[in-house]
Amino acid sequence: MGKFDHGFQDSVALITGGASGIGLATARRLREEGARVIIADINEGGAKAAAEEIGASSAALDVSDPEAWQTTVEQIEAEHGALHLVYLNAGVTTYRAEASGELHSPFDLSSMPLEAYRKIMGANVDGVILGARACIPLIASSGGGAIVATASAAGVIAFPPDPIYTATKHAVVGFIRSMAPTLEAQGIGCHAIMPGIVDTGLLADGMADRAREMGIPIIPPADIAEAVVGAARCQETGGLWLCLADRPAARYAFAPVDGLGVPNSD
Ligand SMILES: NC(=O)c1ccc[n+]([C@@H]2O[C@H](COP(=O)([O-])OP(=O)(O)OC[C@H]3O[C@@H](n4cnc5c(N)ncnc54)[C@H](O)[C@@H]3O)[C@@H](O)[C@H]2O)c1
Repeated sequence: MGKFDHGFQDSVALITGGASGIGLATARRLREEGARVIIADINEGGAKAAAEEIGASSAALDVSDPEAWQTTVEQIEAEHGALHLVYLNAGVTTYRAEASGELHSPFDLSSMPLEAYRKIMGANVDGVILGARACIPLIASSGGGAIVATASAAGVIAFPPDPIYTATKHAVVGFIRSMAPTLEAQGIGCHAIMPGIVDTGLLADGMADRAREMGIPIIPPADIAEAVVGAARCQETGGLWLCLADRPAARYAFAPVDGLGVPNSD
């Protein structure tokens, strides 16, 4: 029987990058389900305002900072006594990590500021791995639950406009798949969410409108929240949930590598 078979009532859920977009939509959805929600974000004011709006609590957290992670988890344990679900969702693109915030096309690796590189690796990769590292002991001692991370469809496809973003999301997919068997033994489900293009502030300016003009469907953040809830409740761990417009989230499977002989590598 899974931790959330009877819903999320009174469970404790931490959401990173919860001040806006997909994280906020998920925070809202989990509040509707009766969960106690902590919105953590590097945007402290945004996290506070979002938390006040939906009846959650908030924490200022840079997910790339391991010490800040320890402090956040200690505060949750002190205030709520438990943690059942962490949604490791905070993330940026390379262009949003740059001061200009503009998408350069074609991507030029040699002119990418090192600072933008550190920022995206810190948020998208460290934020998931350090977050899992900090939260696993408390989730396990709370009787189990789930870790869900936001990867992207760019976690399994090539995305030439932003190869660094693509690398970070492939990293999340590999991490989640590889952690899942170990965490299952501790009663913790482990899933990655892989959205297509979602209507949030992460998109480059004008991108959503251009995509619509080209007939490319844009996904509302609430649809991703639905996928997160479904993944957290799923009995079978290690799910890679591909979220595309106008259809329910569906599990993605890699082609098997025959002949390698390594267990749990599917
Ligand atoms: N919007 C899309 O099309 C799309 C598609 C696939 C995946 N994603 C992923 O979804 C996740 C959420 O993004 P979104 O689309 O809701 O965008 P968003 O910009 O609305 O939300 C991202 C949030 O993360 C926070 N954040 C950034 N760096 C942080 C850090 N170091 N520490 C803590 N918080 C930090 C931001 O302040 C912001 O509130 C990201 O991981 C993103 O890569 C988005």
